[in-house]
Amino acid sequence: MGALRTDFHPTMRKPIIAANWKMHKTPPETEDFLRDFLVLAQSGESVDIVIAPPFISLSAALAMITNRDHVRVSAQNMHFEPSGAYTGEISPLMLRTMHVSYVILGHSERRSIFGETDALINKKVLAAHHYHLKPILCVGETLEERDAGKLEEVLTTQLTGSLASVTADQMVGTVIAYEPVWAIGTGRTATAAQAQEAHALVRRIITGLYDPETARRVRIQYGGSVKPGNMGELMAQPDVDGALVGGASLESGSFWEIVRAAAEANTVKLSAPILPAGN
Ligand code: PGA
Repeated sequence: MGALRTDFHPTMRKPIIAANWKMHKTPPETEDFLRDFLVLAQSGESVDIVIAPPFISLSAALAMITNRDHVRVSAQNMHFEPSGAYTGEISPLMLRTMHVSYVILGHSERRSIFGETDALINKKVLAAHHYHLKPILCVGETLEERDAGKLEEVLTTQLTGSLASVTADQMVGTVIAYEPVWAIGTGRTATAAQAQEAHALVRRIITGLYDPETARRVRIQYGGSVKPGNMGELMAQPDVDGALVGGASLESGSFWEIVRAAAEANTVKLSAPILPAGN
């Protein structure tokens, strides 16, 4: 018999594993990846799989995954206006028209390299919901902030700012990606205990902004050097509901191993007895 769990109801949250390809893969490379990956992912219904190629490869991805409900396509960013004089930008309306399902918002690379603020990210989150795109909202602290004991402060500021005016219903349809900046692309993963602590904190902050029921239903992904070898241990944590994967998502076999490891760890998690919250 597994440990009694009092703090969550795992059956409410379907794991979600997303591939963040960043500035990698042309349309032909996207087709090559998906040709292999979709053979592997024929039966992945227990996990939501999301592929986020660069804008120019969205069409190629969408054309290949039609009629596969458990694999969805995401953009990596967008503007908040539906159209206008914004040279170089892509709008939520454009993404919706193409049948893109998700959009990654507020990634730390957008924040640090392109100067995105919580106020700007908030406009994008609201616009995403308006156009029925599901946001994957990224939050996370730098090593300096962690070492200075500011984890809670940073996550509270980012979540409060990015989620302003988001309704409880919209919140449930928002995926949070907790990505410690020091673990992104560095090969240095947070330990499972560090991930669980931060995820529980994120859920606590959402409880404060909304209510316990809303917070219990929000899916929180971990991101930062996720690999086939560490996915299982991360996913076994009660508040870890999936992963946002960069480097290890670029190769179809390795990304599929991550999806499988998440599905297996979640099956074990589901077998733990559940007590109603508050007991
Ligand atoms: P990584 O990137 O898996 O390469 O660390 C994760 C991310 O930035 O989303």
